[in-house]
Amino acid sequence: MLQEYRRVRERLERGDRTATFPWKTIGPLRVLDQGGTILLGDVKLFDPVRIRVGPGGHVEVGDYSVINLRTEIHCKKRVVIGRFCLVSWDIMIMDTDYHGVGANPPVSQPVTLKDGVWVGNGAIITKGVTVGRGAVVAAGSVVVKDVRPFTVVGGNPAKIIREIEPFEGRHGQRYEPKWYDPSFTPMPLP
Ligand SMILES: CC(C)(COP(=O)(O)OP(=O)(O)OC[C@H]1O[C@@H](n2cnc3c(N)ncnc32)[C@H](O)[C@@H]1OP(=O)(O)O)[C@@H](O)C(=O)NCCC(=O)NCCS
Repeated sequence: MLQEYRRVRERLERGDRTATFPWKTIGPLRVLDQGGTILLGDVKLFDPVRIRVGPGGHVEVGDYSVINLRTEIHCKKRVVIGRFCLVSWDIMIMDTDYHGVGANPPVSQPVTLKDGVWVGNGAIITKGVTVGRGAVVAAGSVVVKDVRPFTVVGGNPAKIIREIEPFEGRHGQRYEPKWYDPSFTPMPLP
């Protein structure tokens, strides 16, 4: 064991990051593809974003979505992130527990972030969760249940903090059309 550790350490010291995991670098992405599919629209990814997809798994990220630094997506079934989503840094989105509790097999269930979801930094989204359109997940939340559209949730486990008025700010202050407004025309991505 010790010898093995020494070998790993030597490889790490040489800068060989594949010593423990064969993450493949594709631009800002670190991909561990074990036989799934990854479909990215016109998205902005900060470097690095990690995606691990298991056999038959499917990851999809829609146009105009942003995924920030050090966020990880782990997928054994299906992880779909919609359009206009803002996924902050250090977030973990996983559709699988990887390990079973007690003698039970691990559970994997699809995760969906609908259009316009904002996930605050350090949040964890677990298996089977659907985050509704335009919802906000507060920083550091652990989301274990579905989130209703246009609500803010926070805490561990995440609970509703408040509702969002989608056209908030329309009256009495300068209004800039947002993605959910029919008059909104997206700017081309840089
Ligand atoms: C989601 C967020 C924007 C909401 O802000 P807000 O609407 O101003 O909310 P408030 O600060 O008024 O807090 C409202 C309530 O939610 C609670 N709350 C706020 N943030 C929370 C969090 N991260 N976890 C749990 N509860 C939280 C507050 O304690 C307050 O509870 P109370 O009404 O019982 O006092 C903010 O909580 C947040 O997460 N900010 C970080 C955003 C981020 O990660 N940015 C990175 C760049 S993408």
